[in-house]
Amino acid sequence: MSKNILILPGDGIGPEIVTEAVKVLAALRDDHGLEIEMDEALVGGAAIDATGVPLPDVTLQMAKEADAVLLGAVGGPKWESLDISVRPEKGLLGLRSGLGLFANLRPAILYPQLAEASTLKPEIVAGLDILIVRELTGDIYFGQPRGVRTLESGERQGFNTMVYAEHEIERIVRVACDIARKRDRRVCSVDKANVLECTELWREVATRVVKNEYPDIELSHMYVDNAAMQLVRRPKQFDVMVTGNIFGDILSDAAAMLTGSIGMLPSASLNESGRGMYEPIHGSAPDIAGKGIANPLATILSLAMMLRYSLGHAALADRIEAAVNKVLDDGLRTPDILSEGMIEVGTEAMGDAVVAALI
Ligand code: IPM
Ligand code: MG
Repeated sequence: MSKNILILPGDGIGPEIVTEAVKVLAALRDDHGLEIEMDEALVGGAAIDATGVPLPDVTLQMAKEADAVLLGAVGGPKWESLDISVRPEKGLLGLRSGLGLFANLRPAILYPQLAEASTLKPEIVAGLDILIVRELTGDIYFGQPRGVRTLESGERQGFNTMVYAEHEIERIVRVACDIARKRDRRVCSVDKANVLECTELWREVATRVVKNEYPDIELSHMYVDNAAMQLVRRPKQFDVMVTGNIFGDILSDAAAMLTGSIGMLPSASLNESGRGMYEPIHGSAPDIAGKGIANPLATILSLAMMLRYSLGHAALADRIEAAVNKVLDDGLRTPDILSEGMIEVGTEAMGDAVVAALI
């Protein structure tokens, strides 16, 4: 049966990188028997410009009906002066909560070909393969109350609420443990239990879930500040890290950079039924938008995750990943991953090369 994929290019470099991923998807459809239909819709700043809101009802409806969603990136300086409640980022957050995408998988894998591109010494990052499992629909991102209020003194005060219910912690810990069972069976839960009650509960629940349901998993706990330090000190000590929304946002950027470029890393955001939205972990990079130099590989690799996790086509996912390896072996590099002696290419040439390498 044909699967329906919703394409949301978004803003900045979003349309450019998504175009390359769509080329790959179309090649799989035309030459490798993948039965899919693609639709496109507006989100983020592009949606604000066209309709006045970052997540039009029709986009959310199409996303709910799709088998999977591929998103480019949202946001940019053009919309930064808008009220926070209607900024492009709200489109992304609305999709995450509207689709119930509570489990965000952010793998940080170092392609050996790119060891030179990392800012860390090669021996620190060689062979790096860690997975950050970030809770995506709770925490301070969605907690109420929130806002900016005026105190009696006339001074304004901003406030947000960090909040996690037990079931939210349980289900994300289960996702992390299920995946760890297919890896090295080690899960490090990251919190700030020495200061924040919310994450003290997180630690307690994580401990209980693993003890009762995953006795085969080795669970450790780490404070988030230490985790940030350990990520740059000795990143290979980690297998799977599980953490809340805000800590996961921050740690996943740090983990990404270990691999040389944030332009290489895909992500999957899944709900209870395994449906998902797939996006590169980088942003809309307005500074290089429209120049044809953005790295499309994170988006193309997001497609591989989509095939594996939502569409049941693991073999095609392998094929995309092999093609990406091949173009890296051939020395092709976008500027973000360029090193001496390599061949500099733009967004389109990189996408074409991946298509050509799909066998
Ligand atoms: C990410 C991004 C988003 C987030 C922004 C764009 C809202 O940084 O996906 O990591 O904070 O979750
Ligand atoms: Mg982020």
